[in-house]
Amino acid sequence: MSIIDQVSEIYQEKFEHTPAHIARAPGRVNLLGEHVDYNDGFVLPAAIDRATYVAFSPTNAPHSTLVAVDFDQQASFSAETISTKTQTDSSPLPEWSLYPAGVMWSLMEENLAVPSMNAVFASDIPRGSGLSSSASVEMAYMIVWQTLGGWTLPSMRRALLGQKAENEYVGVNCGIMDQFASACGVENKLLLLDCRSLEWITVPLPEYVSIVIADTTVRRKLTSGEYNKRRAACEEAVRLLKQDLPKIKSLRDVSVDDFNRLAHKLPEEVEKRARHVVEEIERSDQAQALLEASDIRNFGRLMNECHASLRDLYEVSCPELNVMANVAQAIEGCYGARLTGAGFGGCTVNLVANERIEDFARVLAQGYESETGLHPEIYITRASNGAELLK
Ligand code: GLA
Repeated sequence: MSIIDQVSEIYQEKFEHTPAHIARAPGRVNLLGEHVDYNDGFVLPAAIDRATYVAFSPTNAPHSTLVAVDFDQQASFSAETISTKTQTDSSPLPEWSLYPAGVMWSLMEENLAVPSMNAVFASDIPRGSGLSSSASVEMAYMIVWQTLGGWTLPSMRRALLGQKAENEYVGVNCGIMDQFASACGVENKLLLLDCRSLEWITVPLPEYVSIVIADTTVRRKLTSGEYNKRRAACEEAVRLLKQDLPKIKSLRDVSVDDFNRLAHKLPEEVEKRARHVVEEIERSDQAQALLEASDIRNFGRLMNECHASLRDLYEVSCPELNVMANVAQAIEGCYGARLTGAGFGGCTVNLVANERIEDFARVLAQGYESETGLHPEIYITRASNGAELLK
């Protein structure tokens, strides 16, 4: 049964009528520009063909009731309970519901109507896999309330309000990339976003290659602390580098040459973190030209360099991700392989020649399994459209 049928059927059983609407919002995979969105850099994600689906209808009740199929739980909250993060029965909101509740909160902050509704939702994006399942939940509920509230916001604005929900309501200090990709995705295209100006364009991927996702099946846990520490190190680097470069606002403003000249002034750990960011921004700056020239060989080389940098300088990889990337990089037809997303577990993204994909997946699965004892999930993903109302 498709997820759409599943959420519709469960909705029907629970609320005893057919849902009025279905919303969908995808996850994302990022090809280049990792851990640079909160440093004003460039990112190159695509929305993927895995998504969160919400079946929903308006209700006259004073509160909204959400059923999370993947957690086998439900939660009810209203405009009155939102600021205390509690349900209508005064119990605390379960963790999964902080994402939709956070979206409601950020829309209320904008004085936008957030009518009560009943909803059933589920996702085929594995949680904690680095494919932005949380952003997809946020962007799906943006569509839900946009549909019921009678207002319309541009997709980038919805992304920004979702990021605000995650930063200020859920308490995860993420950048804009995930919500942007989920809100603004374009079928068959990569998205190149300048995280400073928020200007973005689509970039084609040559037809002879595919994006392959390889899931280590290792799930990251308690990563927000490590993530926030990386952000703090970047801010510390900017503060210290300002003594010599007073005009800089973020690591985006530091050239590789300036960085090399001044790096010795930074504490060792801050230097490593900042070096990753400065060099990764330079790599992602080359992405558009390489892709437009169909130079996948050099683009893939940058992906491999990115993985090494995330492993050795930013230190957000893990042994299983390193095995997955190393094995892949040695397989014929693989142009580039690296961890995608925040790191600490989850998936790698691979660019693979179409005619080699079957062999690639087989050899990678065997190699990964023999080194780790874990059974990976490997699949081709297609770039999809962003969050939308399906019905
Ligand atoms: C997470 C965050 C993003 C981004 C990536 C790393 O996915 O939500 O904003 O910082 O990590 O590139």
